[in-house]
Amino acid sequence: MRRSVSLSIAMASSLGVCRLHMRGRGGLVKSLRRVQTFVHRNTGTVVAAADGDPLRKEATDEKHGRRSLSAVQAERQGQAERSVLISCNPRTNEKKFLKFLSRHGDVSKYFFYESYGIYALVEFTKRESVASLLEEAAIPTVSHEALVPFKTRLLSLKNIDSVGSTNQQYQPQTTAPINQLIQRLSREESIDRQVISLTESYQLTEENSRLRFLVCSLLQDMVAAYFPECAIKPFGSSVNGFGKLGCDLDMILDLDSISGRKAKTPKSASSLEYQLKRASTERAVTQSILSVIGECVDQFGPGCVGVQKILNARCPLLRFAHQPSSFQCDLTANNRVAVKSTELLYLYGQLDPRVRFLVFTVRCWARAHGITSSIPGAWISNFSLTVMVLFFLQRRSPPIIPTLDHLKGLAGPADKSVIEGNDCTFVSDFSRIQLRSNTETLEQLLCEFFDFYATFAFGKMSINIRKGKEQNKPEVAPLHIQNPFEISLNVSKNVNATQLGRFVALCQESSWLLQQVETATPTGGAAGNTPRPWGLAALLQPSQVAEIKSRKKRRREPASERIRTLLESLKNNKQPNKS
Ligand code: GTP
Ligand code: MG
Repeated sequence: MRRSVSLSIAMASSLGVCRLHMRGRGGLVKSLRRVQTFVHRNTGTVVAAADGDPLRKEATDEKHGRRSLSAVQAERQGQAERSVLISCNPRTNEKKFLKFLSRHGDVSKYFFYESYGIYALVEFTKRESVASLLEEAAIPTVSHEALVPFKTRLLSLKNIDSVGSTNQQYQPQTTAPINQLIQRLSREESIDRQVISLTESYQLTEENSRLRFLVCSLLQDMVAAYFPECAIKPFGSSVNGFGKLGCDLDMILDLDSISGRKAKTPKSASSLEYQLKRASTERAVTQSILSVIGECVDQFGPGCVGVQKILNARCPLLRFAHQPSSFQCDLTANNRVAVKSTELLYLYGQLDPRVRFLVFTVRCWARAHGITSSIPGAWISNFSLTVMVLFFLQRRSPPIIPTLDHLKGLAGPADKSVIEGNDCTFVSDFSRIQLRSNTETLEQLLCEFFDFYATFAFGKMSINIRKGKEQNKPEVAPLHIQNPFEISLNVSKNVNATQLGRFVALCQESSWLLQQVETATPTGGAAGNTPRPWGLAALLQPSQVAEIKSRKKRRREPASERIRTLLESLKNNKQPNKS
């Protein structure tokens, strides 16, 4: 049922609509079912969609409350278009702030956060309120400097009374340090609880998701100066359900409505066409569009700094930092296969809550050990790692998730999608997907994941989520993971033997750790004391892994020493010394 979100100012403050808590959520969830509800709240939202959103009903799986990614995105985009971002004084009087805003209309949601200063994201119930607010905003006057008079929905609040003192907490938008997480996990009573707790601590919050869509919307306003019908949409981990607080913001410039891909059929025999400039290839068009937008963002975009044009990459992109949100942004265009990959990952994550928990945990584990990195290189990427987890879940008996070929078989006519000759079709209607009954716990799955990849025949076999079975490697590469949609490509082509070796060694160690009583069982700890890291907490601790490994090595030393002496004595045809 749709809930009215028009709140009066009084209600807004008495309900404390939302002060941003970028990390941590109280209250333990007692079962995966409850957790699933929680997960849906975070990928979608409980707040109502924009009026008359046609996508919403059609794309909702009523029984499980699951919604398609496009429905979630449409709702989020609507919210973002009714929102503004306001830089505030840290001691801004909240009541006066809300009263000031209410002159322009009802506020449906607001929250404060910290990023190079204090900001408030304010969402109005109606778009007209934003227009009215912007009417009131003035171009500042500054001495000794000149300003580019480029107006956006990023504003600064001046001259609102400050309170004398404030105990308001403005949380940063990044995750808690790993040591704090390890302590938190060590207090949990089971590995299942640890996995859930890790996900709760590190996943994107409702507020952070809203902020991501707002940044896309702000950028869309800038690009609309050139392409009024364009859309800028987030993809990747910002929306696929596996995003961690602080992850980058991948955006795609969607020009489909103008590009002729969705061409209208002419109403009469005679028709008009736009005269356009020509370029040699579609890639050249993408490069020139991103280049011009890069200039605009660099020269005019408030809060956008460090703009880099990376136009010669396989997929040309613009990279910049958006200071008011602290997001590292990547803008691409014409990258529709990546959007399809995002939809697929989202769908798998929604099918069973264990998918999301396991992917999240493995991604954090890999990051803690430097198996993945934010810097490009020969490492395994988060995308490759996610595909590896999905493949593992397809290999369970019975499988936890279906193969991509199976999802393709369930697709309806509206799901048909061919991008640059690649068949990207798969079902979008959740209710058509029947899952097999697998009751494995998160703990079992985590242990089995490490075992699976500790012994996987990487030398001969390729990972293939389309078939859900390993296939013979079609080419020489240390790690071969078939690209789900561009099937002739290897998504982990960049990975070298050293990095794969590190991953396998770490899987072996983690599997071993989870079989040791001392690390696999809760340690309790005296009241008030932090328990010794155990279970998942022990797996996240590099020093613990190294220490146990070296202990293991020390224990083995006398034996290998004895063997060495024995071999040497045999070589010299002498009896070893008996002492
Ligand atoms: P983090 O940014 O590391 O949190 O994860 P991410 O999933 O956002 O990865 P990344 O920013 O590297 O890529 C963004 C999205 O592009 C991914 O989620 C995929 O949907 C898609 N993508 C990335 N690499 C590949 C690839 O090699 N092949 C395909 N088909 N899609 C890819
Ligand atoms: Mg990303």
